Amino acid sequence: MIKLDNKFLDKFVGSEEVKNMQPIINIADQMLREKTGAGSDFTGWVDGPTNLDQAELTRIKAASKKINKDSDVLIVIGIGGSYLGSKAVLEFINHTFENEVNNQKTKIYFAGQNISSSYLNDLTEIIKNKDFSINIISKSGTTTEPALAFRHFKNILVNKYGEEQANMRIYATTDQARGTLKEQANSNGWESFVIPDDIGGRFSVLTAVGLLPIAVSDIDIDQLILGAKEAQEKYSQADLNTNDAYLYAAYRNVLYNKGKTIEMLIGYEPGQTFLNEWWKQLFGESEGKENKGIFPASAIFSTDLHSLGQYVQEGRRDLFETVIFFDQVKSDLTIESDKENKDELNYLASKKFADVNKKAFIATSMAHYDGGVPNIILNVKDMSTRALGHLIYFFEISCAISGYLLGVNPFDQPGVEEYKKNMFALLGKDGYNDLKIKLESRIK
Ligand code: PA5
Repeated sequence: MIKLDNKFLDKFVGSEEVKNMQPIINIADQMLREKTGAGSDFTGWVDGPTNLDQAELTRIKAASKKINKDSDVLIVIGIGGSYLGSKAVLEFINHTFENEVNNQKTKIYFAGQNISSSYLNDLTEIIKNKDFSINIISKSGTTTEPALAFRHFKNILVNKYGEEQANMRIYATTDQARGTLKEQANSNGWESFVIPDDIGGRFSVLTAVGLLPIAVSDIDIDQLILGAKEAQEKYSQADLNTNDAYLYAAYRNVLYNKGKTIEMLIGYEPGQTFLNEWWKQLFGESEGKENKGIFPASAIFSTDLHSLGQYVQEGRRDLFETVIFFDQVKSDLTIESDKENKDELNYLASKKFADVNKKAFIATSMAHYDGGVPNIILNVKDMSTRALGHLIYFFEISCAISGYLLGVNPFDQPGVEEYKKNMFALLGKDGYNDLKIKLESRIK
């Protein structure tokens, strides 16, 4: 399903250097599988695809059917790991102009991933006169952005349907026992889904966090899980000759130690845009700590070759690229011949767009390689839901191994708290008064 191609790496990383990583890869693998590494309480996702709670899966499917039946719109409220995975899958699998074309389907809109009143007002306008439901997703239940958006849309829901009916239209995905969201769900009778204790936000797309919105969008979640299961099996042995997810982790680590501190995830399909965003959170939040870590960036080519291309070709040489290329696209198109040929494109007539895109990819990787940018190529079989499930697991497992190779805990995110403390202090939340005084003295 996924094959790592190293042909645009060889002048930067010798085959011996990668082979020499095997012993340390074995240690990282052992730390992960035997749960002896840092953050091992949050490794439930490793066997997640095969351990999925079948009863929960059945409830997810039933809830998605009910939402499809009674709602024109589902508002999915969450931030970070509580929304990026489902957004990535939806954007990748669905029609590029999904909300414009599929009038019979429940449309999905995301909220709570920012504090923008303009965004909320615009979305409020969209749902006017529409039947809607809400899926509030928060593991902690206390994250400010989704809590604020939830308060806003819950009020609209209650005003529209009355308290009792509104409660039938709220779905809470949260901790199984703790937190204010769970308490609210219990006391109001909202249907709730579980984010397992041992799965952190950015590793949660294959739990109810991702699966409910994905199912509501009529994407085959069984295929997504099947792809992930196959990946779980495929990447279960640490041997770099057979495990391309670990090989990817090894190459990243060698490149990092050679001063390549920025990784750009590249795609040639616009539908990959949010997969890139999900990947950035996965790797950025897992590795960026203790003043270490590869900075995750991304681009969609050839679009961004006309904005970032100059920098990649000739800017600072601290970059490497990981290029995802799909061998088979969702749908292809033939370039037509033109009698006058004023645009001089007839030399491409009868060729396929996918072939041209592929040539753009090879040409670009060669140019960047020649310009001093290593390229890790990930060839993915196709753009199916199953391949996507495989790819998601591929990145999750390689991220965990990469984090251990780097010597950090890949499963915590202590740094995310810092801005929150400052924000609470500046907003005057109880318990933050001393910090408020300190911060305000800096902005006077
Ligand atoms: O990966 C993570 O753990 C974070 O990005 C969280 O998903 C994000 O901060 C949202 O947290 P919560 O689900 O508790 O609202």
